[in-house]
Amino acid sequence: MTLAREKPLTVLGIETSCDETAAAVVRLNEEGRGEILSDVVLSQIAEHAAFGGVVPEIAARAHLRYLPGLMKQAMTDARLEWGELDGVAVTAGPGLMGGLLVGMMAAKALALAKKLPFIAVNHLEGHGLSPGLMEGLSPPYLLLLISGGHTQLVSVQGVGDFVRYGTTIDDALGEAFDKVAKMLDLGYPGGPVVEKLAAVGDASRFDLPRPMKGREGCHFSFSGLKTAVRTAALKLEHIDDGDKADICAAFQQAVAETLADRLAHACARFAAEHPGIADPVVVVAGGVAANRALRAALEDAAGRQGFRLVAPPAHMCTDNAAMIAWAGALRLARGLTDPLSTPARARWPLDPKAEPAAYAGVKA
Ligand code: KG4
Ligand code: ZN
Repeated sequence: MTLAREKPLTVLGIETSCDETAAAVVRLNEEGRGEILSDVVLSQIAEHAAFGGVVPEIAARAHLRYLPGLMKQAMTDARLEWGELDGVAVTAGPGLMGGLLVGMMAAKALALAKKLPFIAVNHLEGHGLSPGLMEGLSPPYLLLLISGGHTQLVSVQGVGDFVRYGTTIDDALGEAFDKVAKMLDLGYPGGPVVEKLAAVGDASRFDLPRPMKGREGCHFSFSGLKTAVRTAALKLEHIDDGDKADICAAFQQAVAETLADRLAHACARFAAEHPGIADPVVVVAGGVAANRALRAALEDAAGRQGFRLVAPPAHMCTDNAAMIAWAGALRLARGLTDPLSTPARARWPLDPKAEPAAYAGVKA
């Protein structure tokens, strides 16, 4: 997939699909490798914390307030003038419509004013191709994306070439962590505090389900597990810190076993579809990938299938604009640009050929 070229390509990327406002400049160099010239991310966690989750309207207003300053900062950090860019890339979906519109309008205005090629990037493609930028990895590889908005197993085969093996039929995994934390009054975002309490809890005290474990295929489901956590918590008259730790431990253990099971299925399918690969890799990305207990379970499951688990540093596998700029540069290098009439898309499946998951409410 790496593409040697005569001249480098320098692209500004913009990301506003959820609750991170981000801008970055990435260069695709002559050897076909990526260099991050600047990378600024502003998390809106504080704005949403009081509500226990992302509020779309608040997110859109915050993007509007901060994005212009962040774009300028990304250019200053990269020591570039606007005219030195070769293109502008922006997340066009999937995500929250209000935020997407803010990013799209800013990118289109810049493209129009500076006569730059415009590249509309699928956020999931940004995550999918980011191992090329962060780790120098070339497709094909398997990607497990576990974040607040997405839970997907994808075979990454190249730019615009993805096969979705599995998705969630209800909640995203990060969402499940956040909801469990909310039930137990642990604050937002839930993942880090659930992980911390789980480390000191007794996972065997509560018997929770392992949704989808043992079933065929690679789909996920977390809503039954979340309900089981609620039921277990409601049965206790008073919940003290010890109870909370035990519930968190049981929940995290159930998630770990479910992920390991799904990943094993995906590895087997990937190996069958790509028989010649000597060193097959699975990349884990998204905010939930920061969880050390889950990483260990995934590493173990991947290893048993002969796969190496690659987990980029947390700040690189959560939402950022460098991955959008990188996907944009790879597209630009192939002549894949988009008209300024391109709309934002709240839903935009990475693999349009993927069968819809069997139930309603599937995340794209
Ligand atoms: O990728 P990300 O930063 O952003 C979006 O989804 O947009 O993921 C955020 C999610 C939240 O649901 C958060 O609770 C979860 O990642 N998370 C974790 C951990 N750290 C963050 N989940 C489990 N364990 C963690 N240590
Ligand atoms: Zn994301």
